[in-house]
Amino acid sequence: MTLENDQSAAAPSAGQSAVLSTAPEGGDPVVTTGSEWWRTAVIYQIYPRSFADASGDGIGDLPGITARLDSLGQLGIDAIWLSPFFTSPQRDAGYDVADYCDVDPLFGSLADFDRMRAKAHELGIRVIVDLVPNHSSDQHVWFQEALAAGPGSDERRRYMFRDGLGANGELPPNNWESVFGGPAWTRIEEADGEPGQWYLHLFDSTQPDFDWTNRWVRDQFLDILRFWLDRGVDGFRVDVAHGMIKAEGLPDWTPPAASGSMGGGAGPEGEETASATAPYWAQEGVHDIYREWRSLLNTYEGDRVLCAEAWVDPLSKVALWVRQDEMHQAFNFAYLESPWDAPALRTVIDQSLEAFSSVGAPSTWVLSNHDVVRHATRLAVTAENPQGHGLGPTSAGLPDPAVGLRRARAATTMMLALPGSSYIYQGEELGLPEVIHLPDEARQDPTWFRTDGERYGRDGCRVPIPWESDKPAFGFSQTGDTWLPQPAEWADLARDAQLGVPGSTLELYRTLLALRAEHRLGLGTMQWVEGYSGDVIAFTNGHVLVIANTGTEAVELPAGAEILLASSDVSSGVLGADTTVWMKA
Ligand code: BGC
Repeated sequence: MTLENDQSAAAPSAGQSAVLSTAPEGGDPVVTTGSEWWRTAVIYQIYPRSFADASGDGIGDLPGITARLDSLGQLGIDAIWLSPFFTSPQRDAGYDVADYCDVDPLFGSLADFDRMRAKAHELGIRVIVDLVPNHSSDQHVWFQEALAAGPGSDERRRYMFRDGLGANGELPPNNWESVFGGPAWTRIEEADGEPGQWYLHLFDSTQPDFDWTNRWVRDQFLDILRFWLDRGVDGFRVDVAHGMIKAEGLPDWTPPAASGSMGGGAGPEGEETASATAPYWAQEGVHDIYREWRSLLNTYEGDRVLCAEAWVDPLSKVALWVRQDEMHQAFNFAYLESPWDAPALRTVIDQSLEAFSSVGAPSTWVLSNHDVVRHATRLAVTAENPQGHGLGPTSAGLPDPAVGLRRARAATTMMLALPGSSYIYQGEELGLPEVIHLPDEARQDPTWFRTDGERYGRDGCRVPIPWESDKPAFGFSQTGDTWLPQPAEWADLARDAQLGVPGSTLELYRTLLALRAEHRLGLGTMQWVEGYSGDVIAFTNGHVLVIANTGTEAVELPAGAEILLASSDVSSGVLGADTTVWMKA
């Protein structure tokens, strides 16, 4: 299959049944089809700086990705999502963008992007890029102009500048804290050398927040969307899609102690938690922005998509981001945050299917990404570990790696049987664990610095991945340089050590993806199968029966049913601890 995105009129492809629904609240009519690719896609997240380094500087790049794309074709994924490769001072690994329409020389050039995109499309792999609209880099020309132009200027109104409180404006405008720790406000020096206004940054001080109530900002981002759509991208993963509008008056707010960094851990369905009430998350006004973006995407052919990174709970609220005239998908962080526990999983799966289907969107499923502890480690951690805090040598509840890997394989085997669209994070197909023993001096996540080492942050899930066990940097970079050190034991996990090896994690993923496609599980309908003990979760999806054992007691498998695959050995006819099996129903 070859894909090509050209700019011409939107039309559903053969076999799709188009439904023209009425315009919601007076907006544009929405064309929806029941079989767009993104409803069932398996999307592979590439974290460019850690995927493959062609230049040899120790940081992955676009030519490196192009050179390794065949291996993703062999894996059997439908699309790639690339974390930011745009011009950036890299203070937050590229989530601090200084030019939205160019490639940072670290990663290559626009021509390298075009080559990468063309090769991906030749292989039938769609390409999603990361859009970071909540904030820019402080080095972006728009922010530099805002600093120079002075208080009250149009340039200042692009961002969230405010006068300080106190007799001389020496106190921040409110008490908000940065997601990465420390205050969310920084005071600037005005042109006359005197301390001046403050600007808001929900993340690092080098990431000033835009003011999305300003039409000028909205117009710039429409142009940015057009730039990449015209370049043939298949869609956008939208960073901090729940944060762009702040509550009127910017009222003080203290988050509950246990909430995760990106906006609160998922709460039980129906419960309003931190992310639901913070004056900077999930404000009603964000939805107008996405309606406008959706209208723009609808003018392009080829089912271009928007996927929301919205750390919001409960799931019924996340569904607001994927109403028919807004985005297409939203990450299911409630699923990611579920423990490896049958009743909890069953609850979150039910809630996900109900919430997303109530607005006509597919559910998504995800277990790992570049912001969370890799699930081959996380699922065996025995202490509370809020998102973003990461793991290091002194963390509580460090796991048994063998238990972690076994659970991760079982968890993925369950996830890829669920109807909807799934996300895979680079390296999980190799069973990579979180790197816990990174030297302090190697750490680069702003979280580590802004909390004075109290939180390790996210570097442990971002270590460059291993390709060939006997090459320098395990084939990541020909020079052997890597921006974060790789553990020596990753030689055994390198792709070439697993390819074609029965039972390896790589072969498990390849078989899962092939069978998922063959049995059309992404499109399917689930039904729970009752009668197992409380630690077991069992369901059918079409003609496939899935049974997962999250407990410690072995479970008898149904006699006579053909086994399609299993995450660990089931040849004795029983399903051991932390194992998932697919059988013919
Ligand atoms: C991204 C993070 C990033 C933050 C600020 C997120 O949610 O996934 O990696 O640090 O947004 O842009």
